[in-house]
Amino acid sequence: MKQIIAIYPGSFDPVTNGHLDLIHRGCKLFDRLIVAIARNPEKDSSFFSLEERVAMLQVMTAELENVSVDAFEGLLMTYCIEKHANAVLRGIRAVSDYEFELQMALMNRKMEPSVETVFMMPAEKYSYLSSRIVREIASFGGPLNGLVPELVEQHLRRRVSELRGTISEISTK
Ligand code: PNS
Repeated sequence: MKQIIAIYPGSFDPVTNGHLDLIHRGCKLFDRLIVAIARNPEKDSSFFSLEERVAMLQVMTAELENVSVDAFEGLLMTYCIEKHANAVLRGIRAVSDYEFELQMALMNRKMEPSVETVFMMPAEKYSYLSSRIVREIASFGGPLNGLVPELVEQHLRRRVSELRGTISEISTK
């Protein structure tokens, strides 16, 4: 029988409970699920390094047998072919996500018609959650309970204080 290998691509900067909810749903649907963190050499503004994001996701998915974590650079469709993947998993939280996701899915299909994009909805309680908003709350020392796993919260707090140190070094120069 044909194996369905799905790629769940994203920035995961950082992974949130919404991403993890989708991974748990996705791994029940597909034979294999590869969570693939996109490396963007032009976008040097990531909060966490690629290695840190891979490490956090590995810990968070360790108990899921058919889930692996990887990083990729370049076109998602090239990576899908390399991994013999036949599906891409993306989350849709609200109507506002739809336009961008539709454009991406159709463009990816034009480039590689053998790969289908599958959209899944995370639990409603995560419909307002995003990595960007988590980074913002963390940078102002706000509460993160229920938004990210404890380990990710610890990394966020550490990173924020590292960045604060860098900023105060610059302003005292
Ligand atoms: O978590 P994000 O930032 O919404 O993820 C976006 C991502 C990484 C899935 C998207 O930017 C992507 O696929 N990048 C790889 C480059 C690519 O294939 N671009 C063409 C998309 S049509």
